[in-house]
Amino acid sequence: MNSYKITGFDHCEMYVSNAKQAAHYYRTTFGFQPIAYRGLETDSRDKVSYVLKQNKIRYVITSPLDGSSLIGEHIKKHGDGIKDVSFTVNNAESAWKETTSRGALNIQEPTLVEDENGEAVVATIQTFGDTTHTFVERNNYHGAFLPGYEMYDPKELVAEPTGLVHIDHIVGNQPDGEMQTVCQFYEKVFGWHRFWTVDDKDINTDYSSLRSIVMANDNEIIKMPINEPADGLKKSQIQEFIDFYKNAGVQHIAMSTKDIIRTVRKLKSNGVEFLPTPETYYDSLSQRIGNIYEDINTLKELGILVDKDENGYMLQIFTKPVQDRPTLFYEIIQRKGSQSFGKGNFKALFESIEREQKLRGNL
Ligand code: FE2
Repeated sequence: MNSYKITGFDHCEMYVSNAKQAAHYYRTTFGFQPIAYRGLETDSRDKVSYVLKQNKIRYVITSPLDGSSLIGEHIKKHGDGIKDVSFTVNNAESAWKETTSRGALNIQEPTLVEDENGEAVVATIQTFGDTTHTFVERNNYHGAFLPGYEMYDPKELVAEPTGLVHIDHIVGNQPDGEMQTVCQFYEKVFGWHRFWTVDDKDINTDYSSLRSIVMANDNEIIKMPINEPADGLKKSQIQEFIDFYKNAGVQHIAMSTKDIIRTVRKLKSNGVEFLPTPETYYDSLSQRIGNIYEDINTLKELGILVDKDENGYMLQIFTKPVQDRPTLFYEIIQRKGSQSFGKGNFKALFESIEREQKLRGNL
């Protein structure tokens, strides 16, 4: 039993080379509202961050003001990517003490931060690659985001929400042979358990394959699939990620919606690019899935995938990478009972990804 409780994903911080433009992208395409800011105007001399929010999802988009800083080094090595996956906890000091005493590497000791809106405690540990986990204890904070950030509410920068509600899961890609070690880290350091697994016999196309273990915390609010490439005839998409990210890192973030058709229509009209789904995928969909509420022709028009398990079904779709390196992308997911991770879709999805990989000359 842990002495602290994780109540959800708090936020994800990404390091990018141009936070101002990235914030514009997340606002105008995914519909995230800027809510807080730190930068030269708020006396942050070395970095600038925009905090964007939609329902329960928060992203912190950070750029260095000096390229020789650690943030600059991170971007030079990895390109734009997710640096930190934060958890909201009831006690950040306990979370830090417990995880570091069980072997996690300290990045930042528990630190009290405060301003006129209250106080919060944050602490950070290392996880896979250069990625970190921050514990955020914010029960006594009532400002826009956290102390150190100013409220940011320019009237001309209003986002139109796209129906994204919360983070369903966050996936970490590992180099070949490191998946088990990372899962053991989450078991030992956090006391998490294996929620679902898939091996290369379940997922392979003619070319590539992967292995994946979904790690979950005790109340299963947090789910983090951990992937590694598996040998195939050609290069696994996981290996392509590792080659371009230069190490382990966050591959995708799945964001939930209560109406995937509306959300995907809106995202497409806003310019979000999705992986195409082969039309033949829909030929036998009814036989595989049975009756569903959504119109199959609409799903086909939008390229939305469907999978089911004994508890129900789920709909999902994946974006193309959101930066030039084939690294971070997003998943849009609507669960209707099913808690699965779309095993039935992997073949169609992999074939689609491989067509893109081929275009990039990486297959
Ligand atoms: Fe996913």
